[in-house]
Amino acid sequence: MEPSKTKAIGKIVIIDDTPANLRLLASLLGDRGYQVRPFPSGKLALAGLERCDPDLILLDIQMPQMDGYEVCQILKSQPKTRDIPIIFISALSEALDKVKAFSCGGVDYITKPFQAEEVIARVATHVELYHLQQQLQNQNTYQASQLIKQNKQLQEMNQELIDQYRLVKEAQLQLVQTEKMATLGNLISGVAHEVNNPLGCINANLQIAQDYITELLDFIQVSQTIDLPADSDLTRRLNEFEIEFIQEDLPQLLDSILRSTKTIRDISDSLRVFSRTENEQKKSCFNIHAGLDSTLLILRYRLKANHQRPAIRVTKEYGAISDIECFPGKLNQVFMNIIANAIDAFDEANTDRSYGDIDANPNQIWIRTMFIDGTMLQIEIQDNGSGMSETLQAKVFNQGFTTKAVGKGTGLGLAIARQIIEVEHGGSLKLQSIEGEGSTFTISLPIL
Ligand SMILES: Nc1ncnc2c1ncn2[C@@H]1O[C@H](COP(=O)(O)OP(=O)(O)O)[C@@H](O)[C@H]1O
Ligand SMILES: [Mg+2]
Repeated sequence: MEPSKTKAIGKIVIIDDTPANLRLLASLLGDRGYQVRPFPSGKLALAGLERCDPDLILLDIQMPQMDGYEVCQILKSQPKTRDIPIIFISALSEALDKVKAFSCGGVDYITKPFQAEEVIARVATHVELYHLQQQLQNQNTYQASQLIKQNKQLQEMNQELIDQYRLVKEAQLQLVQTEKMATLGNLISGVAHEVNNPLGCINANLQIAQDYITELLDFIQVSQTIDLPADSDLTRRLNEFEIEFIQEDLPQLLDSILRSTKTIRDISDSLRVFSRTENEQKKSCFNIHAGLDSTLLILRYRLKANHQRPAIRVTKEYGAISDIECFPGKLNQVFMNIIANAIDAFDEANTDRSYGDIDANPNQIWIRTMFIDGTMLQIEIQDNGSGMSETLQAKVFNQGFTTKAVGKGTGLGLAIARQIIEVEHGGSLKLQSIEGEGSTFTISLPIL
């Protein structure tokens, strides 16, 4: 049989220092269809094994220079040859040698002189086993690589889901905010409008009433000078009428009513500036100072003195800035969110302070506006409240993060503010804060 011409059923390396043994085994296995590679020493075999990739090694134990155990140990220590099954061949048949052969990595043991059929049977078994093992390993490798691929796909899908979830949340936030603003804006400008009509009526009529009252008072004064019977009812009542006091008090009273109507009108105008939602689909030219002032006016009731503390001092350091293109209603909401947070922080910190202490070191807010390099409009809102630790600062812009009690905080204020400034206006909203000293929010808006 010419084994080299048909497909070999396995590749076998034989290592034996006895040429007669090598020849015998080579022809025996070659006749059975194996491709055989003989080596006369361990050293040559180790060098030659680099190039051939056998399915089985037949290894003689007793050889000069390097014996079979040593060769076996080296083969087992190298990843490339580690898994190739090794059958030891030796004339020795003591139990000790067999044990040593197995313990250093051999799979089987054949003793010389050998019987051809035994050699063939053992070789065939181990070659087949090795093939099966390799098949299994290939399958495992394939499955593992499939798993890795699927895992990667899953990870990608997961990331995509996370991204989409974030987008949905952002969109939701924007929707809630837009809807809320629109509803609130309509409501507020509606109320402001409704208030203005009766207010105009009060104002106009008040002036007429003032004239009437003056006339009436004059009339009474004149009546008091007329001689009437001393015991008449009219005389008694005219004498009881404290004309001087009323003459002095009434103008003041009317004046204060007029001033109050003016305040109501200012507030109503501010509400209308504040709730400029009509055109929030597109930007419009807006006076930032008017926005800040209207926000402060709306927050007036929260800024003024109460039983716990004197009024919060607001210092406006407005720069020479001109109107800018923006979404006015949305910017007002940002101002509102930031200033309301500062007031909340004061209220929180004030609970541990006495009125006197707060009076000596009052709660203060500074609002500064300026142009930077002619390309940016900067608005700084600073407070001397509780400030924030660095850990807190890292979280405050997160949607839903709040340190306030349930029902008091939503944790949306700064998240919405950042979205309005950074996403909708292409600007930036930055926070600087020192715990115990205060916080500064800096809004930068590009000037179009
Ligand atoms: N000026 C400030 N001083 C101290 N802490 C602040 C200030 N502004 C915001 N914070 C902190 O940031 C958190 C988040 O604020 P915000 O997003 O407006 O949500 P909320 O006001 O509903 O809690 C607040 O709960 C508070 O802890
Ligand atoms: Mg808030």
